[in-house]
Amino acid sequence: MTKVEKLDHFGRGIIYDNNKITFINNALPNEEIDYEIIKETKKYKEAKLIKIIVKSNKRTKPFCSFYHECGGCHLQHLKYKDTLELKKEKLSEILSKYAHLDKNIEVIENENPFNYRNKLSLQIKNGKVGFLKEKTHTLIEIDKCLIAKDAINELIKDIKYFNLKNASITIRCNYNNELLISIKSSDKVNIDYDVLTTKHKIVGIVLNDEAIYGDNKFIDIIDKNLFQISYNSFFQINPYVTNKLFSIIKNNINNDSVVADLFCGVGTFSIVVSKYSKKVYGIEIVKNAILNALINKKMNKCENIDFCLGDANKQVFKIKEKIDTIILDPPRKGLTKEGLESILKLKPQKIIYISCDPMTLARDLKKLKENYEVKKIYLLDMFSYTYHLESLCILDLK
Ligand SMILES: C[S@@+](CC[C@H](N)C(=O)[O-])C[C@H]1O[C@@H](n2cnc3c(N)ncnc32)[C@H](O)[C@@H]1O
Repeated sequence: MTKVEKLDHFGRGIIYDNNKITFINNALPNEEIDYEIIKETKKYKEAKLIKIIVKSNKRTKPFCSFYHECGGCHLQHLKYKDTLELKKEKLSEILSKYAHLDKNIEVIENENPFNYRNKLSLQIKNGKVGFLKEKTHTLIEIDKCLIAKDAINELIKDIKYFNLKNASITIRCNYNNELLISIKSSDKVNIDYDVLTTKHKIVGIVLNDEAIYGDNKFIDIIDKNLFQISYNSFFQINPYVTNKLFSIIKNNINNDSVVADLFCGVGTFSIVVSKYSKKVYGIEIVKNAILNALINKKMNKCENIDFCLGDANKQVFKIKEKIDTIILDPPRKGLTKEGLESILKLKPQKIIYISCDPMTLARDLKKLKENYEVKKIYLLDMFSYTYHLESLCILDLK
């Protein structure tokens, strides 16, 4: 019998087996457990939980019957409030260790940590639908995903009407429960449109990048802002938490400032800050996303935005006007060295850095801290019951 010491950043319990760090899924701190070693490397071991002898009071029954096999969620055996504590600790430890930043973190909860995802990607193998088990090609068959919106789950029940044998399928759902579906497959496709379009509000079906039914894009609405989104454009997956992000960003834009929205996607934050700013520049590398952004500018009557297609790390330097605020929302890999240096040279008064990867955030903050003071850090629970977290930092020029 062994006592679990703490959780790692991926929600795995940590024990020491013959003095070697050992990670164990589904075990919680202070639990007394029996385990079995399943993997050993030079640096660590992995173990399987055999029996819980003394249970943690933070433990709860996972709400999803596929939880232990699927691997998409990592924290369903923890009570919701404790998942937030874990994420806060994770962000705080990473920022302290890698950015030498010790600051209070404000946590923004997800209003409803179930049925929040507006996008789900599934695999179909030999006619069966599910998720691929992490780091494998093994399909875990599912008939619903309880963190996805109901309209997505309703479609999963009818997935057989797509008549696909082997494919990957991404389902997006908007404010009105309309669906935009993208399929990648080399199968000959024989979709039963009658059944699917009668039972579901399908706006479009895209097969291998070609619309084969309806449109290849749809409209979503958050906080009265209209967003056209193409099947392959990035869009935030949790509308409630995105709205919270909007409020924080708006509250940090000074009237009449010039704003650069780097990695702007479909122009999401540009649209939101437009009416509080003198001028907004949005830069994004995906062509369809910029085409969406140009439509979004028109739909929301935001005359003061210029969108530019290109690498934000390189293009930001080409903005000739003095920039007051830079909004940064890069992909997981964060900024490049060139991007960071450009921003330090441009010296905006304020930087609003939104990140979905605390490690690259910490790396970039360490550099930005040379000229900026980190005023405020938020943790937003965008990806409830997974170990992923979204954070937002407000930086002011020293
Ligand atoms: C995390 S998303 C943020 C999108 C947007 N801010 C939003 O909230 O919808 C990151 C975006 O950066 C884009 N991207 C990735 N690398 C880029 C680069 N080097 N330059 C500009 N955009 C890039 C992606 O296509 C994606 O739209």
